[in-house]
Amino acid sequence: MAKLLAGLGTSHVPSIAAALDKGMRDSDEWKPFFDGYIPSQDWMAANKPDIAVVIFNDHGNSFFLDRIPTLALGVSEEYPLADEGWGPRALPAFPGAADFAWHLADEMVEHHFDPLICRELEVDHGMQVPMELVFGRPEAWPVKVVPILINTIQYPIPTPRRMWDLGRLLRRAIESYPGDERVLVMGTGGLSHQLQGARAGFMNPKADRDWIANIGPNPDRYRDMTREAYVEEFGSEGAELIMWLVMRGCMDADVNTLHSHYFAPASMTGAGMVLLENAA
Ligand code: DHB
Ligand code: FE
Repeated sequence: MAKLLAGLGTSHVPSIAAALDKGMRDSDEWKPFFDGYIPSQDWMAANKPDIAVVIFNDHGNSFFLDRIPTLALGVSEEYPLADEGWGPRALPAFPGAADFAWHLADEMVEHHFDPLICRELEVDHGMQVPMELVFGRPEAWPVKVVPILINTIQYPIPTPRRMWDLGRLLRRAIESYPGDERVLVMGTGGLSHQLQGARAGFMNPKADRDWIANIGPNPDRYRDMTREAYVEEFGSEGAELIMWLVMRGCMDADVNTLHSHYFAPASMTGAGMVLLENAA
């Protein structure tokens, strides 16, 4: 049976990609941010997951405001990179774990999570940035991916509790797959930011640091918070953090935080990550 190796939560701020594209990795401004990911890069190289299930939101690149699925799942053999307006990027397309994804599709529907099933899908910075942060810029990606997309850009977004329950279901689905694949689950987005409206520019580093410290050992409060409380505490786009709950819901109650990092601001966003492993 396939095995869950670890859970990673990370920001996906698009200016991270721009900084890498412009060769600013080691600039005074960016080096402290990127250096925070070195332990996770080392962990990936040492533990070699076969599949990354990546939970993220599209930002109007594959779905626009005329049609936004609350939940979508990719079942493709390959995912091209969305061009977000600054031209093609020097990253390869992502190879898909199609058989595994169809198994997840079947298990999701069986347990009353009904995704939009995508045979073709371009993936934006919600997936590009986290993958590059932990796997670098290889000629070919060392893992196959399964994209799971959540609507966090237009009201009504799904509830935190629903995200947690999706995580619980995904854990069972991963472990019922007949194979010996080693699976990494990644939840991307956040941390605090608001890109629109009267509070545009809002950040909450105190709430971000609490999140980073507690999402592993004390996640219950975050699971039980309302969507409105997420917007209030983390900003309208900071509510992307609900996607980390899918990752956290995949894990055991007791986890070890192998590594964490926080940096603010990246663009106008609190940026950070945690890498979690089941304690047992
Ligand atoms: C920014 C952050 C995001 O998570 C995102 O999806 C888009 C923009 C930002 O800080 O600029
Ligand atoms: Fe985002």
